[in-house]
Amino acid sequence: MDGSWGIGHTRWATHGGVTKANAHPHCSCDGKIAVVHNGIIENHHAIRAMLEKMGCPFLSETDTEVIPHLISYYYKEDLVEALKAAVVNLQGTYGIACIHADEPGRIVGARNGSPLVVGVGAGEMFLASDITAMVAYTDKVVYLNDGEIVDIQENHYSIIDREERTVDKKVAQITWELGSIEKGDYPCYMEKEIFEQPESIARALSGRLDVENATAKLGGLNLGRGRLSDVGRVKIIAAGTSWHAGLVGSLLLEQFARIPAQAELASEIRYRNPVVEKDSLWFTVSQSGETADSLYAMREIQRKGATVLGICNVVGSTIARESDGGIYVHSGPEIAVASTKAFTSQLAAFYLFTLFIARMRHLSREEGLSFLASLQEVPAKVAQTLGQRDHVQEIAKKYHKAKDFLFLGRGNLYPIALEGALKLKEISYIHAEGCSAGEMKHGPIALVSPEVPSLFLVSDDFLREKTISNMREIKARGGPIIAVGVEGDKEVAVLADDFIPVPKGDPRFYPFTMVIPLQLFAYFCALELGRDVDQPRNLAKSVTVE
Ligand code: F6R
Repeated sequence: MDGSWGIGHTRWATHGGVTKANAHPHCSCDGKIAVVHNGIIENHHAIRAMLEKMGCPFLSETDTEVIPHLISYYYKEDLVEALKAAVVNLQGTYGIACIHADEPGRIVGARNGSPLVVGVGAGEMFLASDITAMVAYTDKVVYLNDGEIVDIQENHYSIIDREERTVDKKVAQITWELGSIEKGDYPCYMEKEIFEQPESIARALSGRLDVENATAKLGGLNLGRGRLSDVGRVKIIAAGTSWHAGLVGSLLLEQFARIPAQAELASEIRYRNPVVEKDSLWFTVSQSGETADSLYAMREIQRKGATVLGICNVVGSTIARESDGGIYVHSGPEIAVASTKAFTSQLAAFYLFTLFIARMRHLSREEGLSFLASLQEVPAKVAQTLGQRDHVQEIAKKYHKAKDFLFLGRGNLYPIALEGALKLKEISYIHAEGCSAGEMKHGPIALVSPEVPSLFLVSDDFLREKTISNMREIKARGGPIIAVGVEGDKEVAVLADDFIPVPKGDPRFYPFTMVIPLQLFAYFCALELGRDVDQPRNLAKSVTVE
């Protein structure tokens, strides 16, 4: 399209079907005001009824459509003034961008509960809900806070707050490189991001390994030594894949730092009025740093007086800014909807924190050094595991027509089983269940049949024998088995119909390597089935609505 200013939005349907009429932008009756909106207007029914009474025709089923009509109602030659008056009536969450046909070159935005970032270019300006959208055009950004309104023109922007005071903000610098948002030679982002993991994990560890003192260096925790030694309990809140990283983190903290730890679903804890003990330390884990469930849960926990640290990828995201400190995972932009490299970097953050806090307690220097040595080996071991690419592709060709899958693991591989099942569901749309292998006999085993394959994760630690018994139980019932196990494990290789080896190493670190074949398996099944791997149906990369 021709033109020098405009707005657009890929809306994740919340009100009404996925139809052209419900797609953004939405316009005022005279067609002069156009609006895109991320979030949910909770009182849209009441506003719509009022506007309809005034003769305003509605063309969509969306909550958003009330916004351009409201702005039009207040409009007297100045879009900022009209937007300011309109948002006073809105309850709910919004990141809004709007334009007026009579004010060319001007975009006005408002934020409440949904992210909005201004991109500062040379002779051009941007407004987006996420820096990923504009990193190709500028590396200078300004983050808006709730209640703020921004007025953007070609060479200039100004921000006001709820009290109409001008807000002078620092321009932040994005350090992501342009190459990191391009596909390069890969057919899609997901494959690229899977293969980036040796480097992205190395980046998460970079500068944070203190070999001399056999510990980790974490500069952003903002917690004094005293506060850290007083931590009696760790609680982790997150959603989806980030929750799985949190589950691995909670096991690590309990096993190696001997601190009781628990990972909770953000969407659940938020409404549970959780007990917040004085000696508890909380983490929110989020790749995007914008997940509404995680953000609102974090705010609720902070309201109760707790310290909440963030483990985020996107620098400057809302969770990163509102948390009391934290660890950036530095995986670089993750574009594919299915999270891969951010997951392994989140794991790296938990391994670093566990080492750090365990060394402040009982962990000896020798034990710390052994932990560090294994952590340093992770990028190379992940690179070696990626060498299974073609083998996993063959296995995916064999199994992609299955309608259901079981993913089974024990100990620190149980969360990896959950992650493998989630990856497969998300991008191939094959139904998959992640289970603790020990729990299988309590129900899921009823699903086992020659049509339902099971994917086992088999460590070579004390749980190996137990997992092998579970494999035999499946075999006895005619269920096909794929096993991801340790190279050289002949017994597992023979028992399984298909075997994917990962390099032998410290079993505490197998979550890093064992998740790789599962990411590849989901990816190749999705390709076989002709799915849109990077943008699977019904999903959004950053889930900024509840
Ligand atoms: C899975 C996936 C989602 C996200 C979840 C949380 O591949 O992408 O399950 O992990 O929506 O997102 P973040 O980490 O951005 O809070």
